[in-house]
Amino acid sequence: MKDIAPKISELNPIEIASRDEIEALQLKRLKWSLHHAYDNVAYYKSKFSAAGLHPDDLACLKDLSKFPFTTKHDLRANYPFGMFAVPMRDIARVHASSGTTGQPTVVGYTQKDLHIWGEVVARSLQASGLRPGDLLHNSYGYGLFTGGLGIHLGADALGLTTIPVSGGMTQRQVRLIEDFKPTGITVTPSYALSILDEYAAQGLDPRYCSLDVGIFGAEPWTNKLRQKIENAFDMHAVDIYGLSEIIGPGVANECVETKDGLHIWEDHFFPEIIDPETGEALPDGAEGELVFTSLTKEAFPIIRYRTRDLSRLLPGTARTMRRMEKITGRTDDMIILRGVNVFPSQIEEQLLTVDRLAPHFQIELRCFNGVAEMHLQTEASIDGLDVDLRAQASTELMNKIKSNIGVSVSVHVANPGELERSQGKAIRVIDNRPDE
Ligand code: DLL
Repeated sequence: MKDIAPKISELNPIEIASRDEIEALQLKRLKWSLHHAYDNVAYYKSKFSAAGLHPDDLACLKDLSKFPFTTKHDLRANYPFGMFAVPMRDIARVHASSGTTGQPTVVGYTQKDLHIWGEVVARSLQASGLRPGDLLHNSYGYGLFTGGLGIHLGADALGLTTIPVSGGMTQRQVRLIEDFKPTGITVTPSYALSILDEYAAQGLDPRYCSLDVGIFGAEPWTNKLRQKIENAFDMHAVDIYGLSEIIGPGVANECVETKDGLHIWEDHFFPEIIDPETGEALPDGAEGELVFTSLTKEAFPIIRYRTRDLSRLLPGTARTMRRMEKITGRTDDMIILRGVNVFPSQIEEQLLTVDRLAPHFQIELRCFNGVAEMHLQTEASIDGLDVDLRAQASTELMNKIKSNIGVSVSVHVANPGELERSQGKAIRVIDNRPDE
């Protein structure tokens, strides 16, 4: 793999500023953001007032923990534009979450917000090793989802040439990579696996493709999958994180030179980790739920948003800004099976250690005689895998899951290509248990 890391001289000085400098800037911006939300969004004024608080009660960064949380439920209750802090004529763009599980969440941006979004995505792409003039194949979906257009904005800001492919039409994805020879690809890790399968179907070796780096996010993925993707494409694989409510992609990104967790662009987003049960703020290093406060957003300021994503805050390495550990999962994706907590990412980790199995999987939860059961569908890695070898692989996986995670699952090994492929975010869990 090529050494593509940016030089220190290429970075925005704030990325390597001293902690004192970063925190002074955060405090100044946090005060502004709290006032802006309180003065312009009825929801924040009433929520702060009900807690007996005013933005002036924040004297230091730690004081933020006194302020109330904002949840997805609060955003839905103010659907569609009730959380906007500027008049509609100043809103330049809206995006929305998919809303498959309820009302969509709508977010808005002023021109200045779009500019900042472009800046943080550009920083993310640069941290991933891309440079002005590089060609980027962008397979994140374009539309209300923030992935496609968010990456596009950052690619423009960095001076890349963007191929706005969006998701889907996998044969064409391979064709364009082969013909246009991009150096970077932005795509969900599960869709990258579909692209990889298509390479095999076309009899092409992805190790000889032009890609130097893949920038993967929008869903959890493990370091084991990183290894697999890096080996398969002979390219770097880095992690990009973000969510619509905070801005979209570009809240945090791994640096290609260290790949040790994602540096949070702390000059725009203030992170906290809380205990998801009690809401208590936890110290850096402790595992818990990520909470973000926007520091510079005009249209949609967001104060202490509970992301439901589980991670830890770690000190900076390649940058002075703090890192977040790779997301383990979401509190609402956690499966509780007979008292044991399981995340789909733990299943992925075990699956990737079994040679004869492909990295595709889906978990089905069902109920048999009142007892919850977990059933795992995966695929053989090669066509025509012998019945005995298939049974061996399935037993190996069951045993690994039992001994490393502590739950019993049944495993079905389907033929290659049988499981439905993701074109964006993979659906990992189907819950067929009856509602309580
Ligand atoms: O997924 C934004 C995005 C687009 C991020 C492209 C990265 C790349 P939403 O659709 O609002 O926004 O979904 C946000 O996706 O709360 C996490 O649960 C999950 N997620 C996003 N990035 C990662 C990641 C976009 N790198 C939700 N690792 C978040 C794990 C991620 N989960």
